[in-house]
Amino acid sequence: MALTSFAVHAAPAQTAEQLYQANCAACHGVKLEGAVGPTLGEHAWIHGAPTKANLIKIISKGVPEKNMPAWSPALSAQQISMLADYIAANANKKLAAAPAAAKPVATDLLGGFKLPKGFRISVYAEGATTARSMVVSDSGIVYVGSRKAGKIYALVPRADKQSADVVTVAEGLDSPIGVTLLNGSLYVGEISRVIRFDNIDKRYAQKPSYEVVKVTLPSDKWHGEKVIKASPDGKLYIPVGAPCNICDTDDTKSAKIYRMNADGSQLEEVARGVRNTVGFAFHPTTKQLWFTDNGRDELGDNSPSCELNVLTKFGQHFGFPYCHGGVVPDPEFGKSRSCDEFVEPVAKLGPHVAPLGLSFYTGKQFPEAYRNNIFVAEHGSWNRSTKIGYTVRFVSLYGNKLVSDTAFVDGFLRGDEVVGRPVDVTQLADGSLLISDDYAGRIFRVTYDGK
Ligand code: HEC
Repeated sequence: MALTSFAVHAAPAQTAEQLYQANCAACHGVKLEGAVGPTLGEHAWIHGAPTKANLIKIISKGVPEKNMPAWSPALSAQQISMLADYIAANANKKLAAAPAAAKPVATDLLGGFKLPKGFRISVYAEGATTARSMVVSDSGIVYVGSRKAGKIYALVPRADKQSADVVTVAEGLDSPIGVTLLNGSLYVGEISRVIRFDNIDKRYAQKPSYEVVKVTLPSDKWHGEKVIKASPDGKLYIPVGAPCNICDTDDTKSAKIYRMNADGSQLEEVARGVRNTVGFAFHPTTKQLWFTDNGRDELGDNSPSCELNVLTKFGQHFGFPYCHGGVVPDPEFGKSRSCDEFVEPVAKLGPHVAPLGLSFYTGKQFPEAYRNNIFVAEHGSWNRSTKIGYTVRFVSLYGNKLVSDTAFVDGFLRGDEVVGRPVDVTQLADGSLLISDDYAGRIFRVTYDGK
């Protein structure tokens, strides 16, 4: 689906930098370093030399078939002119690549984390560049998706089981962030398709071939990365994010969660009004789907809250684009709707914290209080004036009600220095917890020794 089928909504902003951050950074990177769109620093310019005239043209008209929106008339001629100047001024700069390679941590990496009493954190694997979702196979191999790196990794436990070697299973994929296992096959969610590696535990080291699952989903790049998860009853669940910060999606295929059979047949919608979920899990006993959702931008630093939701009935509507965080009517789309029409989140996790992966703890290693409760990885804010998130939270429940939401691993953000950005949490057979970090390409392991 082309992005142009949606109205583009430009956020009000004054300076060129603010205009850029509000409308462009999601695709071109906070520092123009590139993300799903190309870098806007020094590179082989696709649409001619970065002269002001050329830039005004491309920004106004976009490249709809390539997911670059047309910004006229959403932005005024004057705003587009400011952006053209801003980009021209940076057009020949060598910009640092996205924060894939973390700076060496000056301070003690592990000593700088804070965990509850009795827990320890260690590095389980290193060198899994832009590590995203994880899934653990019965033989103890952890498969990890990635974003920019375009790779799938296998973490193969070393003899001591305290750490693992990173083996590249596949490369050259399109933001293959999502991984899940079903009947011995590894399913991978790319932006534009789902692929399957059969009999993966036997073949991961041999650059295995894959099949493409027959299913067609929107492949807009904005919020287009797709987690994927096998449900307890053998279906595959997959979301399609909203192709915008805020836009009307109800009559489109976007801002929904779908499920399908393993072969891609019987695709059906299970949830709607979900802006961008990048992590979900099934409750160990109720089997209900729990998912995070990232709140919209440009309503200020402190609103709206990101969400933790539970689906109790197929077809439920979670509010986007009308109502955010269960209580904040959208200034534009919420006018004729009421927040009461939509399912309220179980937990409001905070503004801009970017909750991604979540996992129910079912192991025996941690104290009883953790059992069947949730760990959530908060990737952290990218556009808030003071950074927030950058943590793994522990969310405890009573039935489907929130009891508490507390820090479990803090210290990925140290003052102004980012040492990691948590993406996903999962558990090894021994009950230890793994945390993936796409900033430094590390996988951390948390254990409990009770002391
Ligand atoms: C939804 C993602 C997305 C957003 C938002 C977006 N862009 Fe783009 N942009 C792209 C993609 C993808 C391309 C590459 C198009 C192509 O391959 O032809 C691109 C290309 C460009 C180019 C041309 C680069 C070249 O090498 O010739 C410019 C300039 C540009 N964008 C500026 C902007 C500005 C300014 C904004 C904000 C007002 C913006 N973009 C917002 C995705 C986006």
